[in-house]
Amino acid sequence: MKIAVVGTGYVGLVSGTCFAETGNQVTCIDIDINKVNKLSNGEITIYEPGLEKIFLRNTKEGRLKFTTSLEEGIKDAKIIFLALPTPPGADGSADLKYVLGVAKQLGTILKDGDYKVIVDKSTVPVGTADKVRKAIIEASNNTLVCGDDGQFEVVSNPEFLREGVAVDDFMKPDRVVIGANSEKAKKVMGDLYAPFVRQGNPIIFMDEKSAELTKYAANSFLATKISFMNEIAQLCERLDANVDMVRKGIGSDDRIGKRFLFPGIGYGGSCFPKDVQALIMSSDEVGYDFKILKAVEDVNEKQKLHLMPKINKYFKGDLQGKHFALWGLAFKPNTDDIREAPALYVIDALTAAGATVTAFDPEAMSNIKNQIGDKINYASNQYEALQNADALIIATEWNEFRTPEFDKIESALKNKTIFDGRNLFDVEEMKEKGYHYASIGR
Ligand SMILES: NC(=O)c1ccc[n+]([C@@H]2O[C@H](COP(=O)([O-])OP(=O)(O)OC[C@H]3O[C@@H](n4cnc5c(N)ncnc54)[C@H](O)[C@@H]3O)[C@@H](O)[C@H]2O)c1
Repeated sequence: MKIAVVGTGYVGLVSGTCFAETGNQVTCIDIDINKVNKLSNGEITIYEPGLEKIFLRNTKEGRLKFTTSLEEGIKDAKIIFLALPTPPGADGSADLKYVLGVAKQLGTILKDGDYKVIVDKSTVPVGTADKVRKAIIEASNNTLVCGDDGQFEVVSNPEFLREGVAVDDFMKPDRVVIGANSEKAKKVMGDLYAPFVRQGNPIIFMDEKSAELTKYAANSFLATKISFMNEIAQLCERLDANVDMVRKGIGSDDRIGKRFLFPGIGYGGSCFPKDVQALIMSSDEVGYDFKILKAVEDVNEKQKLHLMPKINKYFKGDLQGKHFALWGLAFKPNTDDIREAPALYVIDALTAAGATVTAFDPEAMSNIKNQIGDKINYASNQYEALQNADALIIATEWNEFRTPEFDKIESALKNKTIFDGRNLFDVEEMKEKGYHYASIGR
């Protein structure tokens, strides 16, 4: 099948590459000419484990191509995916300017020829598929007709991949959600996804509004689990209980499940914060006060700075001139994505208090340099970051931070002091090693 993917970021590049991997002819389109040039020259633009290998294989086989031209990219495509940004607008609601902008362009380009299925893969509020439909028709001066006998149909196919394991998530999804009101479009989408659901994982067909809401409900539920555990951790600190034990105690109950119960310095990334905000806004718009989600957001905002009172207390409220080593900048391990990363908030708080920071992250260094420049210093490895620091702060749970060489930490740090926002080490062992070790909820 011939497929076009509009927007070649984390979702677009992974989706396009994985669709090519199952034999489809894929053209990825992006307005960023540097990105398109790099990709066309065989250079991958994001860090995502396992992606480069299949990207190179499929570009070499000629099944995966890149262009800045929407018109050229969608030519002959049967399916057009929109994997465009939906950032929060000024009021927190999802800004649809990218999605609707491309929809309008499509309205002027689509011709009276082959039937095309246009797929919203971006995370978009309920009603967006209809807005896309209307934008296309209006831009065509009402010449295009949507429907089985027309030139196009719009369906919703939210994406559930997780950065860091995106290729696996895409190739072997727990489920594929397709919101479509047309049997013809359902058939096209079902055929496309058949190779990805061979092991019995379901394609769940539903109406488009339910599909749009499913994505927000999934992310908001996961964010709720995190904020809930962060509040339990707060309680543990005040009651002298251990959140690790509570986590194990509740996680062994099937109804609760073991995952997403790890407390820390809050969730970040390009999805949870904006999707929680967008669902709150969508609820407000229809007159519903989504109280739980407002609390989830509020808890997370505070949690990002949960280490700061501990740091301030240890240094007796005076961080002026203190120097900190910071391990981890990405919003989570196995990605170079720093969007809404808790580490950024920690950096802001430390530098505002007059402290300096030297940071290391295995993959996010160039992204952070582009974003905050010389606000902090950068190290070329985790131990170099420790030189002459008054304390180490851990903000991302990269595997390589889990079993460090403590001898090297001790010889580089001025004080044996670690503030761990991701609970990497055992509290008792750290005590035995003679560290001042502060973590979350223990
Ligand atoms: N990143 C994730 O883990 C993830 C997971 C599931 C869903 N989503 C959703 O998928 C959508 C895309 O997210 P992302 O993380 O891939 O974003 P991204 O910012 O990484 O990528 C978006 C791409 O679209 C391009 N673009 C912008 N305007 C364009 C235009 N007019 N024509 C062509 N290309 C254009 C940008 O240059 C960029 O490369 C969002 O709605 C997001 O919420 C993201």
